[in-house]
Amino acid sequence: MADRPKVFVARVIPDDGLEPIHAAADAAVWPDELPPPRDELLRSIEGCDGVLTLLTDKVDAEFLYRAGPQLKVVSNYAVGFDNVDVAECTRRGIPVGNTPGVLTETTADLAWALLMAAGRRVAEGDRYVRAGRWKTWGPLLLLGPDVHGATIGIVGFGRIGQAVAQRAAGFGMTILYHDVQTLPTDVTAPLGATFATLDELFAQSDYLSLHVNLTDETRHLIDAAALRKMKPTAVLVNTSRGPVVDGTALFEALRDGVIFAAGLDVTDPEPLPADDPLLTLENCLVVPHIASASRATRGKMAEMAAANLLAGLRGERLPTCVNPEVYESRG
Ligand code: DGY
Repeated sequence: MADRPKVFVARVIPDDGLEPIHAAADAAVWPDELPPPRDELLRSIEGCDGVLTLLTDKVDAEFLYRAGPQLKVVSNYAVGFDNVDVAECTRRGIPVGNTPGVLTETTADLAWALLMAAGRRVAEGDRYVRAGRWKTWGPLLLLGPDVHGATIGIVGFGRIGQAVAQRAAGFGMTILYHDVQTLPTDVTAPLGATFATLDELFAQSDYLSLHVNLTDETRHLIDAAALRKMKPTAVLVNTSRGPVVDGTALFEALRDGVIFAAGLDVTDPEPLPADDPLLTLENCLVVPHIASASRATRGKMAEMAAANLLAGLRGERLPTCVNPEVYESRG
C-alpha cells in the first residue's frame, strides 16, 4: 500500500511489538543479533517516518539528518535514553518515546540477585566447586557480609530504586536513599527509607545500589574518591548505566580491598571485553545488561515501544514521551 508509513526497527523485538508494527507500517527489521553498524543504520533509516531504536543505537544530529525531515518519531526500546540526543530531537519537533514502568520490578529483581550474589559470593562459590576445589565444609570458607539487617544505600530513588527498597525492607535492612529530588514522606515512609547525603550513603552503606540516569552529573559518580569513602566490607551494585562507575577506579578498589565486592549488570564499555581487568577479579560479578530480561517484561517493553512508534506515526501524543515539550512548541 502506497501510503503506509515507512519504519525501521533496529533489532528483532518480541512479537508483542513487531505484530502491531507490521500491521500498520512498512517495517524493515534489522535481523541480526548484533546492532546495525553505524553506516548500515544510517542507510536503513533514510526516508523513514518512524524508527524504533535500542540503547545500542546512537540517535544524534547526524542520525536525524540522515533520516530526513519527514521523521515523526523515535521510539526507544528501553526506559533509559542516554543513547538519544533528546535536545536535538526536541529542536526538530520529534517526540522520543521510552518504556518506563513495565521493567521496574524485573530490574529490581536482578539488582537484588546481584546484591545477594556479590555479597554472598555465589558465582565465586560456583566457580570454586566447578574447579574441583571443594574439599570439605570450612568454617572460614567463602565468608561474606550478611544481607539481612544490613544497611543499603540507594542512589536514585525513582521507580526502580523504590522497588529495590521494597525488597530491602523484606530483609530487615536499614534503608538510606539519595536523590536530586526530595521525595514526599508518603513515598519514603511506607518503605522506611531515610534521605542521606551522598557522603553519608558512602560511609554508612553495607550495600550501595545505583539507580540514576546517565547524565553529565552522574558520569563517574562512583570514582576513586567515592569508593574510598565506602566501607571495606561494602558491596556495590550497578544496574543503571556503566559509565556511572569509573571502571578503572572500581578495578583498583576491588583489587586493593577498598570495597568488598561488586555486582554489575552494566559496564563501560559494553560489551565488556573478555580481557577487561575487572574480569580477573573473583569479587567482581558481571552479567551482560540483562536486568529487564524476563520474557514477560521484554514483551511489555515491545508492546509499549510499538505503541509509542505508532502513535507518533499517526501524529498523536506518545503514551510515554521523554520530551513532552515538543507538543508545547506545536501549540
Ligand atoms: C533500559 O531499559 O534502560 C535497560 O537498561 C534495558 O532494559
